[in-house]
Amino acid sequence: MNDRVRIYEVGPRDGLQNEALPVSTEVKSRFIDLLADAGLTEIEATSFVSPRAIPQLADAGELLTRLDRRPGVRYPVLVPNERGLARAESAGVDAIAVFTAATDAFTNRNIGMTVHESLATFGPILARAADLGWWRRAYVSTAFGCPFSGRVDPARAVAIGVRLVEAGAEEICFGDTIGVGVPDQVTELVRQAVAAGIGPERIALHFHDTRGTALANVAAGLAAGVRCFDASTGGTGGCPYAPGAAGNLATEDLVYFLDASGWSHGVDLARVLAAARFIADALGRPLASKVGQAGGWDPGTGAPIGRA
Ligand code: COA
Ligand code: ZN
Repeated sequence: MNDRVRIYEVGPRDGLQNEALPVSTEVKSRFIDLLADAGLTEIEATSFVSPRAIPQLADAGELLTRLDRRPGVRYPVLVPNERGLARAESAGVDAIAVFTAATDAFTNRNIGMTVHESLATFGPILARAADLGWWRRAYVSTAFGCPFSGRVDPARAVAIGVRLVEAGAEEICFGDTIGVGVPDQVTELVRQAVAAGIGPERIALHFHDTRGTALANVAAGLAAGVRCFDASTGGTGGCPYAPGAAGNLATEDLVYFLDASGWSHGVDLARVLAAARFIADALGRPLASKVGQAGGWDPGTGAPIGRA
């Protein structure tokens, strides 16, 4: 079995979109550089969404101009509509993520569309991105539970994932937007997705640690064959349209867990912790993640790694 795991970093986007304190473009750009220094090769940089919806990421175009885009690193951006696609194109991106959800109650608030309407919107966007040769991810948020309509039937999330694959998405990311899912749900959702023709190599999982279940959910995803997990350095983030979404799975917690479990991923824990401290300082608060507080642990010597 393939023991290589992809860590898809969402801190600059999912992390910073929900922060009350404004973060300068320069700080964002430096944060992204530190993440690339740590060995992260997929860094979701920002969103070309309406600045009314997410003022925190209104500087997306400028950020991309400023960014030192390194060879071998993918910097996907969120695109909600044709307008976002045009902005992304003029910023020279080559990787996008579109985003819908498993529930109308959530998409209505987040993007002002029903799920069905969002699929109609994203079809042409994914087709155009494919023509341009861009990498294409699609999120299915609230795949485990919705803050407005409760527990979600995995079949519902999977059916939307299938539609997105048909529309040209290369990767489907199922998101536990408010951190309510548990491992059995992950196992069942992945089982149904694979049975519906979305191979494990096309599935990514996005967990929030709101209720402390994120790493257990990662373990269930790994056991089910998934090899791509989202995480946010510093454990920042959430979705402003999802009450209670605080706390993405922290990249440092994920890296520690994968290292200690023998998975390879190419990311250096001490450097992730340096990036985590940088962004925590910029936001003016202590690091909330477990490994951010305790440091990593060197099994050779018993010494902590990267503790402040
Ligand atoms: N980039 C920049 N501006 C945009 C835009 C985009 N991609 N899409 C719309 N706008 C602007 C419009 O020009 C308009 O501006 P104006 O009021 O100054 O004329 C305004 O936003 C509203 O546009 P409209 O087409 O009516 O969209 P809406 O209000 O129905 O919003 C979305 C729809 C999808 C654009 C908006 O809900 C959105 O960006 N949501 C993203 C939420 C998000 O990122 N959540 C977190 C990720 S999970
Ligand atoms: Zn998230």
